[in-house]
Amino acid sequence: MGRAMRRPIIAGNWKLNNTISEAVALTTALKSLVTHCTGVEIIVAPTFTALAAIGDVIKDSNVLLAAQDVYWEDSGAFTGEVSAPMLKDVGCDYVIIGHSERRQYFGETNESVNQKVKAALSHDLKPIICVGEQLEDRERGRTDTVIENHITGGIADLSAAELLSSVIAYEPVWAIGTGKTATPAQAQEVHSLIRKLLTDAYSDEVASQIRIQYGGSVKPENAAELMAQPDVDGALVGGASLQAESFAEIVKNSI
Ligand code: 13P
Repeated sequence: MGRAMRRPIIAGNWKLNNTISEAVALTTALKSLVTHCTGVEIIVAPTFTALAAIGDVIKDSNVLLAAQDVYWEDSGAFTGEVSAPMLKDVGCDYVIIGHSERRQYFGETNESVNQKVKAALSHDLKPIICVGEQLEDRERGRTDTVIENHITGGIADLSAAELLSSVIAYEPVWAIGTGKTATPAQAQEVHSLIRKLLTDAYSDEVASQIRIQYGGSVKPENAAELMAQPDVDGALVGGASLQAESFAEIVKNSI
């Protein structure tokens, strides 16, 4: 199965931005700009507080909802956490897990990523599993080792069926919020490494069906050339997803 068989997937990770009213305005504008965009999955990931309101705005539209994190227990004495059943309840289809900002600032590890991925899958939430090297890793020639470590740790013990419900997002940390995008060739190199790792761990058939997003300073101007790479199946967009027009342009440029 080639690239043509994998449906492009563009997700906007809003990070810590937008009140409920701002989030509703952004999503309402986006929804009308992408009404006719078929053949691509379009996702927004607001903060927890805006999920319910955005869930209402996107009802019966082609925009899907994701959360930015999840806890692995369903309920109990875990102050401040939000569980997979709660995210399903509010209308999420996807959840971003293991974003580099969570690894960097909030102590996320491969083990916690793996627990969260399993919890999400057991509640029919599709995980977007983030992996990516720091600048220092790249400069020291350690990119492949870091990616292998994040992939094997993050997807440990998943069945092939579970993996097929997951999305991988490659986000080189040095490209996030810096305006420094990986070149299409750099992105392709790591995406093809990820597909090879999945081939070795599962099979060519499984690996060829998994969608791998690129993230890190994706803009309307660079989306098309990134998406033209054979193993790049979508984008995880930060800054440029905070404006309806630029996010919609990225969606259109990726089809
Ligand atoms: P930017 O698009 O702002 O670089 O952020 C990328 C990102 O971290 C998406 O998850």
